[in-house]
Amino acid sequence: MAYDVAGKRVLVTGASSGIGAGLAEALARAGATVGLVARRQDRLAEVLERCRVHSPESRLWVADLADPAAVDALAVAAMTELGGVDVLVNNAGIPKRRHVTALDAATVDAVMNINYSSPVRLTLALLPQMLERGEGRIVNVSSVAATLSPPGEAAYAATKAAVTVFSESMAVDLWDTGVKVMVVYPGVVDTELFTLPDNDPFVAQVESIPVEEAVTAILAGLAADAAQVYVPAWFGDVASSKAANVEQFLAGTAEYVRQQGTNS
Ligand SMILES: NC(=O)c1ccc[n+]([C@@H]2O[C@H](COP(=O)([O-])OP(=O)(O)OC[C@H]3O[C@@H](n4cnc5c(N)ncnc54)[C@H](OP(=O)(O)O)[C@@H]3O)[C@@H](O)[C@H]2O)c1
Repeated sequence: MAYDVAGKRVLVTGASSGIGAGLAEALARAGATVGLVARRQDRLAEVLERCRVHSPESRLWVADLADPAAVDALAVAAMTELGGVDVLVNNAGIPKRRHVTALDAATVDAVMNINYSSPVRLTLALLPQMLERGEGRIVNVSSVAATLSPPGEAAYAATKAAVTVFSESMAVDLWDTGVKVMVVYPGVVDTELFTLPDNDPFVAQVESIPVEEAVTAILAGLAADAAQVYVPAWFGDVASSKAANVEQFLAGTAEYVRQQGTNS
């Protein structure tokens, strides 16, 4: 039976822009009560206004999820004010496009904190109430970077690989509990992620998709209780071909980077 988000309480982190904002609005349109979280209050308020047209009980919390205490407080607030969380969408995240030779340990830790430790902390805080009800959905937004060894993104890719691996092991642990886990692998989605400061320019020649396409794929995956969603779907084929011959894939990527350097 398809999972129906209508009437569900859905907490979406990183809902102030991009995929999270689009997803929150679509969920509200589908009848879910949505809890929105991010740091930029003004942007969250705009998204909330659009959500409330369809789902008046929706609400927002301003939180810096890089702070573990703020993550814990968010979990308590969401459980108290929404009365529980049926679906947790761990979407908040930051990019880090920086060549490995220019990385320092503090930067690697900071990206890991927001992209991996924080969603895991929130998940662990909200899981018990899902288990108590014998039903829940956890949607973790990873990235094709988790599987495709993108050049100049070692720090970011590692955080997303960690999200993927944690999610899949968790899915097995929870298999018979009624709590299901889905991992989302966006390719290149047209969002603010590519214009944030303190990042190298994005160089890969891949056509971006609009947020709506990612949102549609995530909602379809949720309805189908899919274990994973690649969007666009062809990135899943690229991941399979890499797995079939890792050395060839890495060599091909290195050659691509060389050519980009020559052409620039
Ligand atoms: N766009 C892509 O091509 C792509 C590809 C693969 C994976 N992804 C993943 O998709 C997710 C959404 O990204 P997006 O593309 O939609 O980019 P985005 O528009 O920059 O959205 C990122 C969201 O995360 C929130 N966020 C960042 N740091 C936060 C913090 N410390 N505390 C609370 N919220 C924080 C941002 O809100 P505030 O700044 O208001 O806090 C924003 O709402 C990310 O996990 C990203 O890694 C994106």
